[in-house]
Amino acid sequence: MQTIELDRESIRQLVTDAVSQPGFRQATFGGSLRGTAACPWIRVVIRPVEIRDQRAIQFSYFEEKKHVAKNFHGPAVGAPLEEVLAVGFASIHLSTTNEEIDVRTTRKGKVQVGRRKVEALATQPPLAHNRTKDVPLAEGRSDSLLEAMGILTHDGHVRSAKRAKFTQINEFLRQLAHVLDDAGLLSSGRELKLLDCGCGLSYLTLAAHHYLNDVLAIPARIVGVDVNAEVIRKSVERSERVGAERVTFACSRIDAVAAKPDIVLGLHACDTATDDVIALAIAAEARILLSVPCCHHELNDRLRAEGAAKVLRPILRHGILQQRMADLVTDGFRALALRILGYRTDVIEFISTEHTARNLMIRAVRGAPLGDASLVRDYLAMRRFWGVTPYIEGVLGEGFQRWLSIES
Ligand SMILES: C[S@@+](CC[C@H](N)C(=O)[O-])C[C@H]1O[C@@H](n2cnc3c(N)ncnc32)[C@H](O)[C@@H]1O
Repeated sequence: MQTIELDRESIRQLVTDAVSQPGFRQATFGGSLRGTAACPWIRVVIRPVEIRDQRAIQFSYFEEKKHVAKNFHGPAVGAPLEEVLAVGFASIHLSTTNEEIDVRTTRKGKVQVGRRKVEALATQPPLAHNRTKDVPLAEGRSDSLLEAMGILTHDGHVRSAKRAKFTQINEFLRQLAHVLDDAGLLSSGRELKLLDCGCGLSYLTLAAHHYLNDVLAIPARIVGVDVNAEVIRKSVERSERVGAERVTFACSRIDAVAAKPDIVLGLHACDTATDDVIALAIAAEARILLSVPCCHHELNDRLRAEGAAKVLRPILRHGILQQRMADLVTDGFRALALRILGYRTDVIEFISTEHTARNLMIRAVRGAPLGDASLVRDYLAMRRFWGVTPYIEGVLGEGFQRWLSIES
């Protein structure tokens, strides 16, 4: 990325030129500047759409609680564009078929422009304006990251072998947007810190970086951690190839990471690595945790139809049912522990099983009361019923035991 400095009039010209050229793909405006007048819009996204076979430019205005879209044709685009430029957003990202441009205004009013040539893309047909409604990274329009990942073709079509990955990325980003909104972080005005635990080949790490920085215009820095040195090497390579500037990677076990992120991601972290992710999020007092548990083994070997659980013998005698029960009990304990430790927690099916069998997500946002006595009683009753101490309890340590001891 080449960086230069420009004055405000040149910025206005840069934006106007980008929006009016046939290869225009998207402009995203976000971040408030010190000293500018109050503005209800947290961000504005401008993109070409097709309405009744005619090209129009759609302006999406995002406010704290609502989102309004308006379409303009031809010269009528000028006035709303001037209005957005007059706000003086701190961050502007322009995307055209052959260039990505970042315009950032520092707190001291210095304007920096970074320009990166991208391999020339075929001029894409404008979007049908309602086809991709509410999809974080839309189909039918080119996207340099998804293209570099081999998910989209040059002209924005999903490669058939990558349909499941495309859907998984979008559903994950949809959840990320949901919790950001819930935690009040859509418009915090500061750079968000994310930690992606067990990032693997970093598809989702880079998707989150792209979505937050380029689409939502929320400045966000992400660290991807994985114990496997080879996937870290490949992730570094890939992030450099796509020009992701606010991503770094570290080769480490999750339980050895010392960090204070706002958001912790643990997507398909194997077996008890998910418990380590949850413990890390709690210890760091992270505002948000998104965890997709995977390969539950630990409790499966310990779950017995004994004591109170004897009545479940007809179920547990079947290997597959025992395994599913162990999955449910493991995630049930995890979700309850999070609730006891002050997180509003949901367990949701974030993607249909047609795309992946690993489709449960633990979605937690900090802000509930700590140590709710009735939740602690539920936890202790569940522990007695199953006659096991779940793994999560061990990794949560002293801080969790203190709450349990109050009711036991
Ligand atoms: C199934 S992959 C998931 C990759 C990525 N998060 C995704 O959802 O596409 C799980 C990754 O977690 C890593 N992992 C497992 N246990 C770990 C641990 N204790 N510490 C760090 N990484 C771990 C593995 O090396 C692997 O790359």
